[in-house]
Amino acid sequence: METYFDHSATTYLRPEVTQVMNKYLEDEYGNPGSFHYKGLKAKLALGAAREKIAKIIGCDPSEIIFTGGGTESCNLAIKGLTKSKKKGHIITSSIEHHAVTDTCDYLERHEGFDVTYVGVDKDGIVDVEQVRKAIREDTILISIMYANNEIGTIQPIKEISEIAKDKGIVFHTDACQASGSLDIDVRNIGVDMMTLNASKIYGPKGVGLLYVRKGIRLVPLIHGGGQENNRRSGTENVPGIIGFAEALELAQAEKDSESARLKEIRDYLIKRVVDEIPESWLNGHAEKRLANNANITFLNIEGEAIILLMNEHEIYVSSGSACTSKTLDPSHVIVAMGMPYEAAHGSIRFTLGKRNTKKDVDKLMEVLPDIIEKLRGISPVHLKAEEIR
Ligand SMILES: Cc1ncc(COP(=O)(O)O)c(C=O)c1O
Repeated sequence: METYFDHSATTYLRPEVTQVMNKYLEDEYGNPGSFHYKGLKAKLALGAAREKIAKIIGCDPSEIIFTGGGTESCNLAIKGLTKSKKKGHIITSSIEHHAVTDTCDYLERHEGFDVTYVGVDKDGIVDVEQVRKAIREDTILISIMYANNEIGTIQPIKEISEIAKDKGIVFHTDACQASGSLDIDVRNIGVDMMTLNASKIYGPKGVGLLYVRKGIRLVPLIHGGGQENNRRSGTENVPGIIGFAEALELAQAEKDSESARLKEIRDYLIKRVVDEIPESWLNGHAEKRLANNANITFLNIEGEAIILLMNEHEIYVSSGSACTSKTLDPSHVIVAMGMPYEAAHGSIRFTLGKRNTKKDVDKLMEVLPDIIEKLRGISPVHLKAEEIR
């Protein structure tokens, strides 16, 4: 039986989501823009999903723009805002998902914007004071993620949003990893824009949203039929959006109980791995982290080699984020925490989910110590932990 420890990359659909989606895939497949009853039914369902999500995140339904996922939402937030200005300064962090860093990099290289990447401490937490100090007269946007997708660290979003508000700067947070674990009510966390997606919370892939506080002007990136109040054209992904609303409602309702359950399994996993495998340690803050994330370095090993050998046992983990694991560069997040390149290569992310129990950890520990020993036996690198940490 397979053991899936890669829920931060994506999740399976939960049955409740499959069920509501099927109705809009098979029967109520109308286009919400059509004038006949079939279209009207889809339009009403879309409106109901928007209202459901607005209630969960504490905003007005008109402040939600549905998109094709987290990457598009981050692009829309950052490019949409900057396109309404000729130039200016953006503050972001060195541990953002590439949806944010590469967008900022593009604006810096091709559109003449300045970007400051604030660093993180050795635990992977953004320094609020660094954010404050980075602010300039011409700063137009701060974009800092809520929870990191690789090391699971939870960032001080409320404090940063207060600083941004105080200075009249728009604050966007990428909260793709936060839903189902943290408070995502925009009134409580005080953000101006927030990115969410469905594929991390047992909803469908390819659907997300951007919350945009009333009064913030965004230039649309996709032009066409004028859907989403002229802010994101294209026929709405009705089944996806309905599945997203269902998944988000369930995830937020269960967040406390499920987080408590996952935390117990995660701590069991961390303890067993670090106690039983020499020269291994947890990356990221021990407490200020997502309940389902354990990111562990195994010194003197390539993370990809571990993944390959675990495949044989149908155990699925990840090195770096799924989107960057195509390259063999070490994770920019682990490097940003100050770990040397040689050690950063051996970091593995275990992210737990609904179907995991402690038994999965026991299965992992039946094979992992041998895999590590075998790989260390053929490794050309022989660093010592005390040289690195
Ligand atoms: C923090 C974060 N931001 C953005 C994304 C991109 O989301 P999507 O794959 O829906 O475009 C992801 C998904 O990996 C993520 O974890």
